[in-house]
Amino acid sequence: LPVTVYPNQHIASAKVARIIANLILEKQKAGLPAVLGLATGATPVGVYKELIRLHKEEALSFKNVITFNLDEYYPMKPTSVQSYVAFMNENLFNHIDIDKNNIHIPDGTLALEDIAAFCMAYETKISDLGGLDLQLLGIGRTGHIGFNEPGSAPNSGTRLVTLDDLTRSDASRDFGGKGNVPVKAITMGIGTIFKARQIILMAWSQKKASIIKKAVEGEISAEVPSTYLQLSDHVEFVLDEDAASFLT
Ligand code: F6R
Repeated sequence: LPVTVYPNQHIASAKVARIIANLILEKQKAGLPAVLGLATGATPVGVYKELIRLHKEEALSFKNVITFNLDEYYPMKPTSVQSYVAFMNENLFNHIDIDKNNIHIPDGTLALEDIAAFCMAYETKISDLGGLDLQLLGIGRTGHIGFNEPGSAPNSGTRLVTLDDLTRSDASRDFGGKGNVPVKAITMGIGTIFKARQIILMAWSQKKASIIKKAVEGEISAEVPSTYLQLSDHVEFVLDEDAASFLT
């Protein structure tokens, strides 16, 4: 499994932003869209900051970019501060020239009976565009990627899932208490993520060291969904020294 370790998350984030910018520019030259799978949470914030800088200072345009976010809490209003819609607007979309019609984030306002059809349509939209060119991932302390918690099947698609207790504890600060954290989420599946032509999983800090060791060196198992990435030939782990510190 290719693992690249950088001295700190700032240098690592700049490298990942450069990979994304090059992909966007290459697609622009060919007159094609760049189809990106995006993540929320603390981990990708530095990448988004650098992409905003490239837009403002180096005239990188996002006009040909189409995005699909990994996940959204359920239920969740897009106007809520904890929504991943608000997160993406604040941390990226409001600061670049992306066409708002090209942004896709799972809909946390759906009626329960409409979720399955929405998830099928999400998959179809991605495949009709020729699939994801690049998927960015963080990793949760349960080993989740997206919100594919322990027990997720390797061929799983976009669907409604129940969040792990540890995931809800980790989110409790954003929600002012664990009791306020939604119990469910809509997430792309492991199978959806796997179909991306390039996958970059990022992790920073000592907090992630033990789950990174399991993900990279542990036995492949549904108990740690990120171990499935060991089976991919187009994934790279990008780590800072602290997150990599338990690797042998
Ligand atoms: C977010 C997502 C999650 C996070 C993971 C790590 O869209 O899919 O898998 O990447 O929970 O979160 P942070 O980066 O906040 O440590």
